[in-house]
Amino acid sequence: MAVESTEQTQEELILGFLSESGEDYTSGEALSGKLGLSRTAVWKRVEALRTKGYRIEAVPARGYRLVSVPDRLTSLEVVPLLSTHDLGRTLHHHDSIGSTNEVAFRLAQDGAEHGEVVVAEQQTAGKGRRGRAWVSPPGLNLYFSAILRPELPPQRAPELTLVTAVALAETLRDSGVAAAIKWPNDVHIDGRKVAGILTELSAEPERVHFVVVGVGVNLNCQADHFPEELRATATSLSIARGEKVHRALFAASLWTRLEEWLDLYLETGFDVVRARWKELSSTLGQDVLVRTDRNELRGLAVDIDPSGALLVQTEGGQVERVLAGDVEQLRPRQGPRAR
Ligand code: BTN
Repeated sequence: MAVESTEQTQEELILGFLSESGEDYTSGEALSGKLGLSRTAVWKRVEALRTKGYRIEAVPARGYRLVSVPDRLTSLEVVPLLSTHDLGRTLHHHDSIGSTNEVAFRLAQDGAEHGEVVVAEQQTAGKGRRGRAWVSPPGLNLYFSAILRPELPPQRAPELTLVTAVALAETLRDSGVAAAIKWPNDVHIDGRKVAGILTELSAEPERVHFVVVGVGVNLNCQADHFPEELRATATSLSIARGEKVHRALFAASLWTRLEEWLDLYLETGFDVVRARWKELSSTLGQDVLVRTDRNELRGLAVDIDPSGALLVQTEGGQVERVLAGDVEQLRPRQGPRAR
């Protein structure tokens, strides 16, 4: 069925069809049938895509073939690769902004819908947890904030951070690295941080208005992009894999996985997420030092409770519940893992 569409969505559709065909050619006739456009109109959209940096080969009597796409994260690059119903379908792309979380928060206050995403090539004031900065050099990594409007009481909103951590760790594992989650929401490869999540909330006592889930993933940056003090503890997917990462493909896979986990979580509750989080965790079974706003706590990380809080067994055998803080994982314990 032909769909009425803007030039932008026509270009997204052309890219979608060409990506699906891979190395094969798609005839101009097939494209014009699928889009409900004349062949001249299809050719014009292909020309427009070329001026945006897409290499599209055209061979008489065979058709069009997508040779390469620019390394950008606009909806033209990402939307054709998505398999989501909502997440990322409306994409607010910026070359350079302060913080995607700030922009997403304002958009949500102005009524943006569930699933809208703000993505930036560069952040000049990227925010990390606990007032820290998030290093955000241009054109190398993934920085985005998703606006979510789940029907949840505010006290359950932190669970969304663990949902996101599960999706992140799984997507990184699919990219061929042994990623693990460090409580509550850092994702590590070989003990170095590759991704972080900053969740911000707008709510009234009984009801969440919206949640902004901000995610930074180091994809293609190299050690010298990190400030000196982070070089020993930070990494990127490209450093771990030894090859460049296709950012649009990674973003599309992550958003698809994130929406699958969100749907499952909202349908069935937190238990299934908690079980998967535990499988992906590098924290449980470790001796840890936890720094909270109020104090420090040392002990064995034994579990996360049904709301996602970390349970730490101290020397005296007492189990403390930690809702928020920074975890330093001390020497790994020998013997069986804690449950
Ligand atoms: C952490 O400290 O681990 C959380 C880091 C979160 C960084 C991301 S990058 C995209 C989004 N915008 C921000 O300003 N922060 C989050």
